[in-house]
Amino acid sequence: MLTTSLQSVDKSNQHLNREGEDVIQGLTNEFKYLPPKYFYDDHGSNLFEQICELPEYYPTRTEAWILSQYADEIAQITGACELVELGSGSSTKTLFLLDAYQKNAPDSKYIPIDVSGGILKSTVVKLQQKYPTFSIQGLIGTYEQALVKLESTPASSRMIFFLGSSMGNFNPLESNTFLSQISKTLQPGDYFLLGIDLQKPKEILEPAYNDSQGVTAAFNLNMLSHLNWRFQGNFDLNLFSHQAIYNQADTQIEMYLHCQKSHWVSLDILDLKVFFTQGESILTEISRKFDLANLQKQLQSKHLKTVKIWTDPQEWFGLILCQV
Ligand code: AVJ
Repeated sequence: MLTTSLQSVDKSNQHLNREGEDVIQGLTNEFKYLPPKYFYDDHGSNLFEQICELPEYYPTRTEAWILSQYADEIAQITGACELVELGSGSSTKTLFLLDAYQKNAPDSKYIPIDVSGGILKSTVVKLQQKYPTFSIQGLIGTYEQALVKLESTPASSRMIFFLGSSMGNFNPLESNTFLSQISKTLQPGDYFLLGIDLQKPKEILEPAYNDSQGVTAAFNLNMLSHLNWRFQGNFDLNLFSHQAIYNQADTQIEMYLHCQKSHWVSLDILDLKVFFTQGESILTEISRKFDLANLQKQLQSKHLKTVKIWTDPQEWFGLILCQV
């Protein structure tokens, strides 16, 4: 019989950051915003999986190609280790790495971490069937919660990996804090593998976030359904529309929910009532596009030294392996 190994991160540190406090902060700000983590309820995670298959959305395909080419090399460089994946989702691209470690460094262990318990559970079941000899243990929680837990349970050798350019969601300050946390969670000799989307013309970037089938629009709007469900809210999805633009100056995609008509919204569990004016927008996500040289400097400042960089022939996407 197969047992699913799945654990929720201890919630005892959550009083520091009361559930939904970030929603209150974002919606009472002069320029309203919401944290992108609220995209990922089970429905949102499924929509994101669909985004990854869209013809306009090049990042997933491109990163998967890089991994298909170089996963063996990565496994040979690091050797057997504890493979910790932040934001694993359905772990589709991870299969390249798991195959490579099974072949080159079979004593490795896989720890996928995700906030979406539903998708994590089915992923762990599926993977344990595909790799019966691999030790796999899922962890449900946010990156912050997971990193705190990992810091207290050091492994003999560890590689944390963060794929899909998810770091693009962090502003410069947040990514600095995040990289400090990564560095703290690793010991000298440990590895960090980071997948990042690179700067490129607006003509390629904007369609990737404004797909013709409207999947990204549904993904963006689903954040409001998630908040309705989670905090007993009454957002009317018909009163908002999806918008995504490339901000050249800050080299980032910005996704907004644009309000069509002035109205009040309440979130009962948060004891919050918010007025929305026609024409105002909620910033739901930034997706930064990186420059490899700058990023290497930032990593270096956190004692994360570049071992090797891989890209695709068009240099649309990069994979950086660093070592502490
Ligand atoms: C998961 C944050 C990397 O920024 O491209 C895709 C999320 N949002 N389409 C990205 C996303 C809209 C994605 N990340």
